[in-house]
Amino acid sequence: MRKRSWAEPYKIKMVELLKMTTQAEREHAIVEAGYNTFLLKSEDVYIDLLTDSGVGAMSDRQWAGIMMGDESYAGSRNFYHMRDTIEEYYSYKFTVPTHQGRGAENILSQILIKDGDYVPGNMYFTTTRLHQELAGGTFVDVIIDEAHDAESEHPFKGNVDFDKLNQLVEKVGAEKIPYICIATCVNMAGGQPISMENMGAVRTWCDLHNILLVHDMTRVAENAFFIQQREAGYENKTVKEIVYEICALTDAATMSSKKDAMVNIGGFLAMNDESLYEKSCELVVVYEGLHTYGGMAGRDMEALAIGIKESVQDDHMRARIGQIAYLGERLERNGVPIVKPYGGHAIFLDARAMLSHIPQEQYPAQALAAALYVESGIRAMERGVVSAGRNKLTGENYMPKLELVRLTIPRRVYTQAHMDVTAESVVEVMENAASLKGLRFTYEPQVLRFFQGRFEPLS
Ligand code: F0G
Repeated sequence: MRKRSWAEPYKIKMVELLKMTTQAEREHAIVEAGYNTFLLKSEDVYIDLLTDSGVGAMSDRQWAGIMMGDESYAGSRNFYHMRDTIEEYYSYKFTVPTHQGRGAENILSQILIKDGDYVPGNMYFTTTRLHQELAGGTFVDVIIDEAHDAESEHPFKGNVDFDKLNQLVEKVGAEKIPYICIATCVNMAGGQPISMENMGAVRTWCDLHNILLVHDMTRVAENAFFIQQREAGYENKTVKEIVYEICALTDAATMSSKKDAMVNIGGFLAMNDESLYEKSCELVVVYEGLHTYGGMAGRDMEALAIGIKESVQDDHMRARIGQIAYLGERLERNGVPIVKPYGGHAIFLDARAMLSHIPQEQYPAQALAAALYVESGIRAMERGVVSAGRNKLTGENYMPKLELVRLTIPRRVYTQAHMDVTAESVVEVMENAASLKGLRFTYEPQVLRFFQGRFEPLS
């Protein structure tokens, strides 16, 4: 076959103009924002790689779906469309809509976790772990060691280590483990997938110990694409088929549809067990809304249903992952230390390697993200010790092995030229890295401190 690039399977119909800023303006803006990119005004940002959440470009069909919103309090037509689409594409029989992923995490954690329980997972996600802790549980990391090593090129860094799982059962007993939470394309590990073989083994392990398997399916389509590309026996299956197969191995799922499904807001909790569904319906009315809208407008549920169908197209996924690999290759060619293999939603800069003169207690990844903004107006996100937070019992900082800055690529939003500018800017910051200083907190929130924390440079 002749070689062809990954060019986008769509064309641009509408554009949003961006404000260009000067370096002096950005220096002022980052001080105002307390060196936290979450606190910048988005109009002061040129290329926004903070997150891939809720920032994708919807298609003309999704926008048409917005016009078809049935804004009824109860029983909206769009809810049934969304529910049926979830069953058809993701296998789950029952769906409870929530305003976004963390709404689903809250409900699930409250129902399943009792005080003193343990919840193993293939690495943590910030909001997921916090909801587990607020419900009285303790998160236990059971991902393979390679996931914590920025340099390991393991093709499935999202895999579960069964020695770690078995040790946990021996230590606390299976009755203290209400469920295991498995994320597809593990965000904090660098957007790294879990293999179908490993997922199947987790299913068998759960059956053996009578433990539920909950799926954080926020980026399941990206995981499915990696399985198609890397796992023997899946090369001729479609992303759509692989997505279904993954979901069918699990009992329940929490979903932030703001990622894979390319909507600006929305998510859900889905499951096959009717009694879990009934309990979820009781709680969703407390925190989100009636069980047929759960915090979403009818129009949002319609766009979500359409987004699910678009998200599992092979052409879409090839361009999506192709764009990320393009950025990764440009950075690597210029000697920038990044997490390998390239992730499904982002390229992660290894701040520990780039800013080796700044100790982890001085938040090197936070300093690097701030410097990148000042350099070129590109907004990235810290994913290191600031995001990891403090241990709820000891009050000590968690010291993650990975000290990363995430360049997250929104779906269908930026062009190859934006990726070129991004790579050039990162290289520029790296060349001047010796002049960067560590940071200290001037305000530290009690929970999820990375969102609103403020910093100043150490002199
Ligand atoms: N799980 C994963 C793996 C996530 O990446 C996120 C959100 C959530 C759950 C929570 O979903 O935001 O809809 O409430 N991740 C975003 C990010 C915020 O930037 O990585 P939510």
